[in-house]
Amino acid sequence: KKVVLAYSGGLDTSVILKWLQTTYQCEVVTFTADLGQGEELGPARDKALMLGIKEENIFIDDLREEFTRDFVFPMFRANALYEGTYLLGTSIARPLIAKRQIEIAEMVGADAVSHGATGKGNDQVRFEIGYYSLKPDVKVIAPWREWDLTSRTRLLEFAEANQIPIAKDKRGEAPFSVDANLLHSSSEGKILEEPWDEPPEIVWQRTIRPEDAPDKPTEITVEFERGDAVGINGERLSPATLLTQLNALGKANGIGRLDLVENRFVGMKSRGCYETPGGTILHVAHRAMESITLDREVAHLKDSLMPKYAELIYNGFWFAPERRMIQEMVDASQASVTGTVRLKLYKGNTIVTGRQSPHSLYSMKHVTFEDDQGAYDQFDAQGFIKLNALRLRLGAMAGRKGGAL
Ligand code: ARG
Ligand code: SIN
Repeated sequence: KKVVLAYSGGLDTSVILKWLQTTYQCEVVTFTADLGQGEELGPARDKALMLGIKEENIFIDDLREEFTRDFVFPMFRANALYEGTYLLGTSIARPLIAKRQIEIAEMVGADAVSHGATGKGNDQVRFEIGYYSLKPDVKVIAPWREWDLTSRTRLLEFAEANQIPIAKDKRGEAPFSVDANLLHSSSEGKILEEPWDEPPEIVWQRTIRPEDAPDKPTEITVEFERGDAVGINGERLSPATLLTQLNALGKANGIGRLDLVENRFVGMKSRGCYETPGGTILHVAHRAMESITLDREVAHLKDSLMPKYAELIYNGFWFAPERRMIQEMVDASQASVTGTVRLKLYKGNTIVTGRQSPHSLYSMKHVTFEDDQGAYDQFDAQGFIKLNALRLRLGAMAGRKGGAL
């Protein structure tokens, strides 16, 4: 019996590790991913060794490039936002963790996988739907849904009884739950549970306050090729390097803070505070790039599918045929989304100041308020408008003026 555990090296997953060893008497394989959460992974290895995991059963992978290139960027091609605001920073990381965990399970011959998400949230759904769609016969162990460590106190007692080090920073345990990667940081729970209470400043860890940002805007350009950002200020960058640099620019200008209440898949509403500095800039820049390169109907059709696509990612259906189907459509739309966008970053705002593309559909000749030299015949608009109005005129004649039903 072998189980692959998604192991962060933190207290909760260390307790899970020990609990799996004692409850299931199984051999535990740990998997720790660097997704750009900004933590050293060395301590996770040391802790796993200390908890009795064999060297060959410890997997530590740097997934930052794969995460950005194969998950974040495809999602940004769709301009995905859940419920109009959330850039899906946690949601998009889960399928990659699940995929790698299953790869490791196949490699070491494990029949089970385990994670540290609670039974109340979205993450359990995302991990497990990922597992099942890649390894249909896998056994899933979700300790939070099974064990009797139902309070923080019991968890700490278990840790103490099992010699699991309880790292305490100066403030003690964080007063909220955090998940972080290269795209975003999220904070939820505890002191954030009252949605009327303004989040205290300590919640915000990767952006400065917009009020404290420089009075002078930072001007940048972002270069795109076929829908993906490929450079900043003319310098070509790998996906993860590019996102890292946008994060630094966003941080310094107080960009990407979000305080929201969202609808979880399992049914309850939850309040979260998210920081997506680079992602917020990328989202605005990508839309601006599309504004001159996409055909109107292509843009509108793609936009109409976006809420569905975002919901699929939020609910954990990355590895589902309908997500892939929409993705193929979105990707096809990006063939001409190449060019440069210029932006001003200023006190929490991302302001577009210019866009240009070799595939631009913008025709100054047609749109100009000056003499267009016959490019566009204004007389054509008369019939266009009259036929569009015909059914409304017929309605009005039948007594239904102004769109009355
Ligand atoms: N509510 C967000 C989502 O479902 C974040 C979940 C994880 N965040 C956390 N602080 N534990 O995508
Ligand atoms: C959790 O419940 O483990 C985190 C929150 C979520 O998954 O929605």
